[in-house]
Amino acid sequence: MPGWKELLSLDGGRMLQTLREFPEQIERALGLSCRVPNGVQGFKNAVVLGMGGSAIAGDLLARFATVPVTTVRDYVLPPWVNADTLLIAISYSGETEETLQAFREGLRRTKRAVALTTGGALAALCEEQEIPWVPVPPGLPPRAALAFLLFPILGCFARLGCLRENPSRVPAALRPLRDACLPEHNENPAQALAQALCGQIPVVYGAGITAPVAYRWKTQINENAKQPAYWMELPELCHNEIVGYELAGKLFPQGVVIFLRTAFDHPRVAKRVEILKEVLTARGLAFQEVWGQGEDALAQALWLVHLGDWVSFYLALLNGVDPTPVRPIQELKRRLKEP
Ligand code: PA5
Repeated sequence: MPGWKELLSLDGGRMLQTLREFPEQIERALGLSCRVPNGVQGFKNAVVLGMGGSAIAGDLLARFATVPVTTVRDYVLPPWVNADTLLIAISYSGETEETLQAFREGLRRTKRAVALTTGGALAALCEEQEIPWVPVPPGLPPRAALAFLLFPILGCFARLGCLRENPSRVPAALRPLRDACLPEHNENPAQALAQALCGQIPVVYGAGITAPVAYRWKTQINENAKQPAYWMELPELCHNEIVGYELAGKLFPQGVVIFLRTAFDHPRVAKRVEILKEVLTARGLAFQEVWGQGEDALAQALWLVHLGDWVSFYLALLNGVDPTPVRPIQELKRRLKEP
């Protein structure tokens, strides 16, 4: 088995570089929040339009905003979107057809709108309709641009009094984790977890603020490590998925549950996790538990996001693949453009 130093040569797309810069990217991204004008204020709810690596920003925003926020991963908008709704279109490329179509429909219902993108058709639409848009730095895989797709909006919501945490505290919480996850660091928590998951199928569990984080882990493992992974949220999984444990040892022997925990877990969720651990142990099923760190809920959630990004990076290397390319996504988009 090659060592980490040799495996790093697989990182042709330089994913390591973007992971290394995540806390500093957040600081830069918070600086971009001034590009969202105060003129959007007064909205009663918000919809984030996006897909894949761009849409996850909406799921995270929804957990911390003090107004209702819904992520729409679709061509069509819910019927309740109206003049009181803030539309937030997020597309790294600016070319995602679902996002563009839903945004065009939304602009017929409300003029409160903003977009985050590197350019493309989305930026052109904003220019044409005089909608403000936040310029996101180009040249990154969309999922590696999370800081720039999320923090300008978190910063704007904080400024408008619509966020229950202070996003500027996040970078300080992430720096010790980033340093511990660098390849040169011994006793590296991300490498250890990636080794524990190698050859297994991760099933990531979150609850409340960590539900979107569990989904992010799943999608990062899919796209970076090129392997199956699943996710589910508590308490809901206690009402269905738990029954599937009965045959899991036979049908899904490589499944490993990862519990994402924070100090802000609801006490009844915490109790459910303890019971689930006993059930998994009794059935001979494997699990891991990871606790977020940081002084508030937002910092702990982003700490877990960052750890998952590192784990998926090292898992890619252990799988012998370059974390950056996502050829099946590009191939599907190319085929959809065919007449
Ligand atoms: O990670 C990816 O590349 C995808 O999930 C994209 O984010 C998704 O296809 C949407 O594209 P975009 O982020 O450019 O709107």
